Amino acid sequence: MPTDDLADFVRRLPKAELHLHIEGTLEPELMFALARRNGVTIPFASVEAVRAAYDFSRLQDFLDIYYAGAAVLLTRADFHDLALAYFRRLAADGGVHAEIFFDPQTHTHRGVPMAEVMEGLLSAMDAAQAELGVTSRLILCFLRHLDEADAFATLEAARPWLSRLTGVGLDSSELGHPPAKFARVLAAARDLGLKVMVHAGEEGPPAYVWEAVDLIGVDRIDHGNRALEDPALVQRLVADGTTLTVCPLSNLKLCVVPDLASHPLKRMLALGLAATVNSDDPAYFGGYLLENYVRTAEALGLTRGELVQLARNSFAGSFLPEDEKARWLKKVEAVG
Ligand code: ADE
Ligand code: ZN
Repeated sequence: MPTDDLADFVRRLPKAELHLHIEGTLEPELMFALARRNGVTIPFASVEAVRAAYDFSRLQDFLDIYYAGAAVLLTRADFHDLALAYFRRLAADGGVHAEIFFDPQTHTHRGVPMAEVMEGLLSAMDAAQAELGVTSRLILCFLRHLDEADAFATLEAARPWLSRLTGVGLDSSELGHPPAKFARVLAAARDLGLKVMVHAGEEGPPAYVWEAVDLIGVDRIDHGNRALEDPALVQRLVADGTTLTVCPLSNLKLCVVPDLASHPLKRMLALGLAATVNSDDPAYFGGYLLENYVRTAEALGLTRGELVQLARNSFAGSFLPEDEKARWLKKVEAVG
């Protein structure tokens, strides 16, 4: 399919984004604007210098620069502007629903009150629904390089907004920080009625994915690439129907794959895994949702049928109520 036709087809397919860190949507232009607005100094001379620094060979290279960039986010207006800019891009890509991660510890550790983060994000989510018809859910991520006590304190600090949280996740440096380290706080979150997911198998071994499934009992796996190294694990994920929130351009930029033609997405679908396509940290990885679909489809020769399956998986794996899922799935079939 020529690229224009492909992009057109994917744009018309209704899609949900299930793996998106809102701090990872901070474009260099907005970083500079917020630095000026807040009187914060950033270690870059220009937007071009920021983009030139986005050259990563592993997850930690990216995380160092991503946490540094977040220093410009101070007020609820900053979080609102950041999130609304993302929702506008999602709508332009034909995205209709997003379940967004945020990393409160990145902000509270700098002295930003939880209320500034929560109220800014929630007001943007409300505005996205009113102005764009885009629905969303909010997922609080614990930083796994910190300890579990800090995660418990974060969960406690978020309690006033519990009714507006859908789930909790686990992100940041994977290697050396297995899901088991957070088993108690994730169980506590589940007891509060929250969904639970963890980043696993991005850089970490299949054993971390097993832990996520067996010990934590996750509702979704974020990434999951390395599960393919273990056939018994694949069988288990297929049998459970566990959604994998896969991020092809992120995998490329963080050298999880050497090139997009080697990306396992097509293989995941062929194995019967409930894989989805997502953008992770699009301001850092060079493409939002549509570009992740299109570039991966071109590199792997994905068929229209496979693209429809990916869109279907995105709603089936979402935390939307069953009637809304069914409504979107019908719309996907109408385009496909
Ligand atoms: N935080 C933001 N993006 C992440 C990723 N891809 N893996 C782990 N932590 C993250
Ligand atoms: Zn992620």
